[in-house]
Amino acid sequence: MLPWGSHRTHFLSLQAVVKTEILEADLLAQIDLDRLPQHIAIIMDGNGRWAKKRRLPRIAGHRAGIRAVRQAVEASARLGIPYLTLYAFSVENWKRPRTEIKLLMALLREYLKKEIGELNRQNIRLGVIGRVADLPKPVQADLRAALEKTRQNTGMRLTLALNYGARTEVVDAVRALVEQLRYNGTIDIDEATFSRFLYTRDVPDPDLLIRTSGELRLSNFLLWQVAYSEIWVTDTLWPSIRREITHPDCPGAPPAGHLPDWLGTPLALSYRPASCG
Ligand code: FPP
Repeated sequence: MLPWGSHRTHFLSLQAVVKTEILEADLLAQIDLDRLPQHIAIIMDGNGRWAKKRRLPRIAGHRAGIRAVRQAVEASARLGIPYLTLYAFSVENWKRPRTEIKLLMALLREYLKKEIGELNRQNIRLGVIGRVADLPKPVQADLRAALEKTRQNTGMRLTLALNYGARTEVVDAVRALVEQLRYNGTIDIDEATFSRFLYTRDVPDPDLLIRTSGELRLSNFLLWQVAYSEIWVTDTLWPSIRREITHPDCPGAPPAGHLPDWLGTPLALSYRPASCG
């Protein structure tokens, strides 16, 4: 028999799970499942600010950001979103301090190793866009392994943008196009042809682009592909993103049912009021 303290802890965690399930069910009931976006792209911003607010080192913000990645991935997969693309490391991010870059790479490797089982369980296929060949060799090896281990999955396609820059992508596309022109002698260039030379050739354009932390910038992310995308910017810092709209320890959270404008998308599940920080 378990001591009373253990029963109580077990009961409280069960209560928390049930509470979350009810909140989620409530949210789900408000989402028009016929109008879900096919492809959501996210600029995950605010890890540093999240850490600063808590007097923690920046890397603590990135680590907390991984928890949010997990939640966004799981919520999107459960809703049946076919494509989710996350901006995880930009070409500009190399300008950050060496220690931060090293730690970001270490976190990425940790994520790739730890999350494979979960990605497979959720039938998620991993993809990557960016100049992968310029990433550190051990990161490339882990990426190759993760891509291989999830290749057979038929559910959501989770694309990580790594060492990614939209202008770099266009330059790479033009180079590949010129190469093909040399080889074939002729090539018809129109929008559809050009798209086939981009890193995203096998992924539809995003219909929804989300940016966390309130800044109204595209930051060199998928510039060609977001030409017609709806954009939603939330003040919530990336590490505070959660599946549910309210959170038991979030003071002043609006009641479930107060949802942002883009409803009809799954993102209600990722919405958390800015007051939560
Ligand atoms: C921006 O926050 C975020 C990043 C530079 C990287 C995002 C990385 C993660 C969420 C963790 C690793 C991801 C995966 C997929 C394993 P910032 O540092 O620019 O924040 P700030 O603008 O508040 O300083």
